[in-house]
Amino acid sequence: MAKVKKAYFCRECGFEAPKWLGKCPSCGQWDTFTEEVIAKATPSSAVSVAVGDMPHLPPQRVSEIERSSHRRLDLQNGEVNRVLGGGLVPGSLVLLGGEPGIGKSTLSLQLALTAHGLKTLYVSGEESAEQIKMRAERIGIGNEECYIYSETLLENILMQIKQHQPDIVVIDSIQTIYTETIDSSAGSVSQIRECAASLLKYAKTTGTSIFIIGHITKDGAIAGPKILEHIVDVVLQFEGDSNNVNRILRGIKNRFGATFEIGVFEMNDKGLRVVDNPSEILLSHYDEPLSGIAVGASVDGIRPYLIEVQALVSNAAYGTPQRNATGFDTRRMSMLLAVLEKRVGMKMFQKDVFLNFAGGFKVADPGLDLAVVASIVSSYYDRAIAEGVCCAGEIGLSGEVRPAPRTEQRVSEANRLGFRRIIVSGFLRKTLKVPKGIEVVYINNIGELPPALFCEKV
Ligand code: TYD
Ligand code: MG
Repeated sequence: MAKVKKAYFCRECGFEAPKWLGKCPSCGQWDTFTEEVIAKATPSSAVSVAVGDMPHLPPQRVSEIERSSHRRLDLQNGEVNRVLGGGLVPGSLVLLGGEPGIGKSTLSLQLALTAHGLKTLYVSGEESAEQIKMRAERIGIGNEECYIYSETLLENILMQIKQHQPDIVVIDSIQTIYTETIDSSAGSVSQIRECAASLLKYAKTTGTSIFIIGHITKDGAIAGPKILEHIVDVVLQFEGDSNNVNRILRGIKNRFGATFEIGVFEMNDKGLRVVDNPSEILLSHYDEPLSGIAVGASVDGIRPYLIEVQALVSNAAYGTPQRNATGFDTRRMSMLLAVLEKRVGMKMFQKDVFLNFAGGFKVADPGLDLAVVASIVSSYYDRAIAEGVCCAGEIGLSGEVRPAPRTEQRVSEANRLGFRRIIVSGFLRKTLKVPKGIEVVYINNIGELPPALFCEKV
């Protein structure tokens, strides 16, 4: 019997070592090495036979390389098309990551079911065909050319793909499929790497687009197989709060387009509904203004939207005050609190501060600084911000208010949604084009914010 060959792999980055190491020399993480059996029966030959060989071409001049087509596949889903940069590129490998239960299977099945005119194959290693059928009935079957296949062995999957020649394949999930050429169990680093490499080869040689679903760990990394991020063309992350119906599809890497786009969905009993106008779910409606609530005008990709932020500032019961932010970077909030303390003289060191963005949204837009500070100031003084006021601006360490990127778009969105006043950076005084119907208040320093917020009803 052949000797069992083993190796150690880093769960974070996939680094391979012949013996166990405490610290990964590649990514620097501690205690991430696991032992895996890698004895190869037939060294990856089974796969290459199934796939066919890549055409072998000598180096060519860039101007002489022919681009086969500019075609992009229309997935019949505006949000996903946009996040992909205008549709799915044939032959691309897309990794869809997300926490368990967030709706990855639902989204990908929905894409397979609604892509009219395209032949799709949904491969599940997690659910039986009947289970998938039940889910498909909830979503609604629109595409007669959608095939379902419940299988975990990669060689069988590739054989079926070759036979049916679909335009789009969904692999749900990469952690459940395995290849016979490696002895380690499904979900291990070497299995994931090998399976993804075979799928990549198939996608590139045949022009089939493949969606790979990957579960991610709590800390947000695509579970173990961070390695996958290098292999694939597009990395999409599906996120949201499982207690909330809103879901966001975010592009993290895209070889065929920009990565700043987001797609917004709402999970209901018939699957995921596209939300064309995110402001509709991100703004609450109150009978009278409440303290601690502010509205920020934000831009994600090319789309502006308005989002509500709530803050609660209360006296600290214990020595060290608590600082807690949901959907916002806690360190950035601490920085803003320090600026308020130093530049405005507010006694934040004795206060607990809690911050929350509406709809389970995670924001990274620095243009929302001003709205965050506005909500904190409002809660600190326990005074409601006048109705119809919103903010867009970044705050610097010396308390200066800097222009938020694309302020003009933010102003028009606020105007469109019926806001009567927007507070922006004074640097824009000369350049900003102001649409009719909205008043723009320019402030240079954070100290000028409270008067602009609390003046009489506008
Ligand atoms: P699922 O796609 O199975 O998550 P993942 O593949 O990311 O693990 O989504 C599971 C959740 O979605 C489940 O809690 C039920 C909910 N759901 C709906 O609310 N409506 C629907 O139409 C479907 C199909 C699922
Ligand atoms: Mg699933």
